[in-house]
Amino acid sequence: MRIGVLTGGGDCPGLNAVIRAVVRRAERGFGDEVVGFLDGWRGVVEDDTVSLDVDACRGLLPRGGTVLGTSRLQPFGMQDGVERARGTIERHGLDGLVVVGGEGTLSCARGLHELGFPVVGVPKTIDNDISATEMTFGFETAIEIATEAIDRLHTTAESHDRVMVVEVMGRNVGHIAAWAGMAGGATVTLVPEEPFDIAEVCAVVRRRHERGRFASVLVVAEGARPIEGTMEMPEEEVDAFGHVRLGGIAHLVSAEIEHRTGFDTRVTILGHVQRGGTPTAFDRVLASRFGVVAVDAIHEGGFGMMTSLTAGEILLVPLSEAVAEVKKLDSDLWDTAKVFFA
Ligand code: F6P
Repeated sequence: MRIGVLTGGGDCPGLNAVIRAVVRRAERGFGDEVVGFLDGWRGVVEDDTVSLDVDACRGLLPRGGTVLGTSRLQPFGMQDGVERARGTIERHGLDGLVVVGGEGTLSCARGLHELGFPVVGVPKTIDNDISATEMTFGFETAIEIATEAIDRLHTTAESHDRVMVVEVMGRNVGHIAAWAGMAGGATVTLVPEEPFDIAEVCAVVRRRHERGRFASVLVVAEGARPIEGTMEMPEEEVDAFGHVRLGGIAHLVSAEIEHRTGFDTRVTILGHVQRGGTPTAFDRVLASRFGVVAVDAIHEGGFGMMTSLTAGEILLVPLSEAVAEVKKLDSDLWDTAKVFFA
């Protein structure tokens, strides 16, 4: 067989581990040839490829980012994109295409599958917001990075008796914030799923500081928002792909806390540090398992499906289920996280 692979959307630790696993399984397991598409769907539409074999993948397992490059371009948004993509797949005689991506990339894969494209999805995102899988690779690495940062901020917060506001990624969901906040002993964590009341946040901070030199570390997901009408918010900017440009809520929260409580407050925005660098062992293993099962799925004709971590096993689930809605925070986990606030 001839198999294609692409990585789309924001980069994420573990992408190279999937590429390596796809190549290893395809070449050594089945004697297949593998074509890598550069910069996600752009490579498919513009027929920009690189041929991949086991030798070309040496040293990839621990490497962050993606050697194939990535972009947010999609055939549906490009001139004759779908027809050009179809032409590329036919020209290369591809029997299947492994699409590694988040919600945007996988939604596109689902749409193309409905038009007859032989795609199998692999979910990636540090945000962990893809439905129908318990976890995406990249998430564990991100929460390890965020937790380490929170631990470090505790010691400087305590030394100065300050309030530290740490912003983590999480566009629509608070998985990173909730996990890293809980692991790092956050005073309060703010997530997109539950709009916050800044007056309550300030009350918690005040109570904590009144008990002595108990510095606070607040963890804020970039998509967290106040309850409407409780705090002034600036107009939101939108990027070329229609995504609201996030980042900066920590500055607004910090300014309000300082203004309302008088405590010395500082902001740390972790940003893309959470997406960069080497994946954890867990993410390397999850990414490798996904890559192997994706190739097996192509050999079994499992098109329109996505690899999923379900109760410790790697299963195949319909792409339509995976992209139907974003996976929100589990309410039990969130309730437990709140036990430790203040
Ligand atoms: O989807 C992952 C994510 O990390 C989001 O949490 C974040 O909002 C977004 O990517 C930012 O991506 P970029 O800066 O690449 O547009």
